[in-house]
Amino acid sequence: MAQSYALQYLAKAAVSAPRDIFNSYVARFKPIHPTCLIFNCTFVCDARCEMCSNWQRGDRKSDMTLEQIDHALQSPLWKNVEMCMISGGEPTTRNDLVEMTQLFLDRLPKLRKYGINTTGLTPHRAIPMITKIAELCEKKGVIFSCRVSIDGVGEMHADVRNVKNAFEKANKTITALRQLQKRVKFNFGVSATIFNKNIDDCENILAWAKRENLDIVFNMVRFTEAMLGNAELGGAVKPIGREEERLRKFFMERVRMDPMMDGQNYIHMHYADMIGNGYHREAPCPFQTQGIMLNPDGGLFFCENSEVIGNVLTEDAEALYFKATSQKHRDWVKETQCPTCLSPCQMNVAAVKQVVPYVKFLVRATREKRRKAVPPVPAAAGSVSD
Ligand SMILES: C[S@@+](CC[C@H](N)C(=O)[O-])C[C@H]1O[C@@H](n2cnc3c(N)ncnc32)[C@H](O)[C@@H]1O
Ligand code: SF4
Ligand code: SF4
Repeated sequence: MAQSYALQYLAKAAVSAPRDIFNSYVARFKPIHPTCLIFNCTFVCDARCEMCSNWQRGDRKSDMTLEQIDHALQSPLWKNVEMCMISGGEPTTRNDLVEMTQLFLDRLPKLRKYGINTTGLTPHRAIPMITKIAELCEKKGVIFSCRVSIDGVGEMHADVRNVKNAFEKANKTITALRQLQKRVKFNFGVSATIFNKNIDDCENILAWAKRENLDIVFNMVRFTEAMLGNAELGGAVKPIGREEERLRKFFMERVRMDPMMDGQNYIHMHYADMIGNGYHREAPCPFQTQGIMLNPDGGLFFCENSEVIGNVLTEDAEALYFKATSQKHRDWVKETQCPTCLSPCQMNVAAVKQVVPYVKFLVRATREKRRKAVPPVPAAAGSVSD
């Protein structure tokens, strides 16, 4: 599956390469319309994760209604959006998630990829909703991707998410969606967010995903007020010192062991590089020039390290995006946040479109693969595993 995932993107990337190169060139000189959108459709959640605080700010009353989303989408700002990711909070807590999807499919003329991250913790809602969404996307010829979050095997997942039987519940959704893949074409996998609590479970999660033949991406924990509401958690849950080094080796091992064309390899190398070099970002990011994020209440912001620049309910989204004060803020993000930012948002997808950084990655990944695998660093005495 990982191979077909990468090949599908590479094929699409090749087709759109001339336009992508042109866009990137133009974006150097003037702001361009965004091509990647992440919409946190609600902060209401069916979990209470330890590394994310979105569940604490869930408020259904301030979520944009379908009509309000439709109104906001009338703005010309969205005319070039090719990738739209739905996140949150838990998207499947919205009763109108399927109708909302139809709205995006209808209103985004250039849409090529639509994705949803879900806990899968409420299978009786998630399974029918994702089924309908996969069908709608297939009908429209838009690639649909879905990932279920798994942060540990068995009890660890329940502990991280603070939900009883979380692993079993998420697995019910996973099983049903894999079954669905036999009938409807879409990309499916799981994602694991690693922080100091579940760092000892990395290998377990990986072994489980391999046994189950599931495509997996590992996230390194991040702290962002705009996207996860969790800036205050930094000191408490970030792996440090020896734990960080274990994580670096784990990520680098993924680069060595996983198939070269795996879409996640680029992200795993980025994490390993950043830990290794003291958090200096070398990887490109589509959000510097072509990304936009929208919060449930209509708050618009450039990326996970940007402030909210205004609200699409009270101002036209295009006017808001291009106005001088907004662009000045984006310059501030680029100058002060990008150099140390861990975010992998859409990086694997965007990476294949950027010829020079992607070729550099392929060369480095090949070199790493030739190296002998190193044994993992054992847990330090007194670490969370003890
Ligand atoms: C914010 S959640 C929203 C979607 C859904 N509620 C879920 O958990 O899958 C999107 C992704 O962010 C990941 N995530 C949560 N906290 C994070 C953190 N502090 N750093 C990086 N990723 C995080 C989740 O594990 C999930 O894969
Ligand atoms: S990671 Fe997802 S499930 Fe967990 S609190 Fe955040 S939004 Fe909710
Ligand atoms: S701060 Fe991070 S997410 Fe934002 S544009 Fe820079 S690299 Fe991308």
